[in-house]
Amino acid sequence: MIKMGLIGCGRIASKKHTEAVIKNSDIVELTAVCDIVKENAEKLADIIEKSGLKRPLVYTDYNEMTEKEHFDFVTIATESGKHHDISMDVMKKNINVLTEKPMALSTKDMDEMIDFSEKNGLNLGVCFQNRFNPPVQELRKKIENGDFGKLFHGQISIRWNRNIDYYKQAPWRGTWSMDGGTLMNQCTHGIDLLIWTFGGEIEEISGKIANFNHPYNEAEDFGSAVVKFKNGCIGIIEGTADVYPKNLNETLSVFGENGSVVIGGLAVNKIETWNFQNESGHPFQNLPDPETVYGEGHVPLYKDFISSLNENRKPLVDGREGKKAVQAVLAIYKSSEENKIIKFPFDFSTDEMKYYL
Ligand SMILES: NC(=O)c1ccc[n+]([C@@H]2O[C@H](COP(=O)([O-])OP(=O)(O)OC[C@H]3O[C@@H](n4cnc5c(N)ncnc54)[C@H](O)[C@@H]3O)[C@@H](O)[C@H]2O)c1
Repeated sequence: MIKMGLIGCGRIASKKHTEAVIKNSDIVELTAVCDIVKENAEKLADIIEKSGLKRPLVYTDYNEMTEKEHFDFVTIATESGKHHDISMDVMKKNINVLTEKPMALSTKDMDEMIDFSEKNGLNLGVCFQNRFNPPVQELRKKIENGDFGKLFHGQISIRWNRNIDYYKQAPWRGTWSMDGGTLMNQCTHGIDLLIWTFGGEIEEISGKIANFNHPYNEAEDFGSAVVKFKNGCIGIIEGTADVYPKNLNETLSVFGENGSVVIGGLAVNKIETWNFQNESGHPFQNLPDPETVYGEGHVPLYKDFISSLNENRKPLVDGREGKKAVQAVLAIYKSSEENKIIKFPFDFSTDEMKYYL
């Protein structure tokens, strides 16, 4: 039985990390939780206890928790701008880390996390759970089989709504130091899927961001970009938090010589187009939308991360994989502000965006 701790017991932790723990209770035990707001940690412990599992211990200081308890891994689900520092503190205690996305808000911080984990033989995982959506896994098989032939271009569109109530819930959202805008918060999942599908290696990005309708936020509520991959494919990114009056869709489109796939629905969970030689249509064409845009992927993502510890291998979404979408978003920010194409690799941080305000 793998023993885990949890740091940050807010919205995503109480909805999706509790679900992942409960549904994987044959392989993982959440032994302690920590939040600087004790009530949040107690509420999360209540959810675990009410499910019939042993109530985790409650801490308000993660350093104290990681010193006193034994963990195989710790999940970090605090504000994005804290993921780097907390991950480093935890890994320095020789504990594996599974962090919520985005893993950090600068290339330098991401590199430090990756280097430290690799040099010390620790697993660093990132919650890009949409990679585990059943239609996305079907697409993956086609990519790995080479069934598209030559890949041409793809597009990710994230057309959602985040209104003032969402930002009022947590003042860190929409700030450069703790979050970034809609590309970094809502769209990194889809951008990760686009990059994963098209070979993972970007040559250059040209992007534009805007803040159309969220004057109380520092960061963007709209972003767009053209991505040139090293293999010659082109990706198009469109992400918005401005759709009136509510979430519309998140859609990944992939086009190649011998195949066309469109996965849409609320959050890339439904196959809309599936055409290959001798194959048109797919049984996942009528999958229902998940209850929330978070989908159901945290459960299999935990299963993979826990297996990776047991099998002494890397998780599907390790630090290097987790970095790619964040680096793409940082490139879009830099490209938009400097009005130029950004060649990879480069260094940038959301903090640098403050100078452009
Ligand atoms: N994978 C997904 O689909 C998904 C969805 C939503 C949010 N997220 C990510 O999860 C993270 C959290 O988002 P949220 O909406 O749950 O935020 P939230 O504000 O609801 O929760 C954050 C929690 O962390 C706690 N915290 C802050 N500093 C702490 C510290 N030093 N020690 C212990 N606890 C601390 C806060 O008190 C709060 O309870 C963000 O990085 C966000 O991008 C991921």
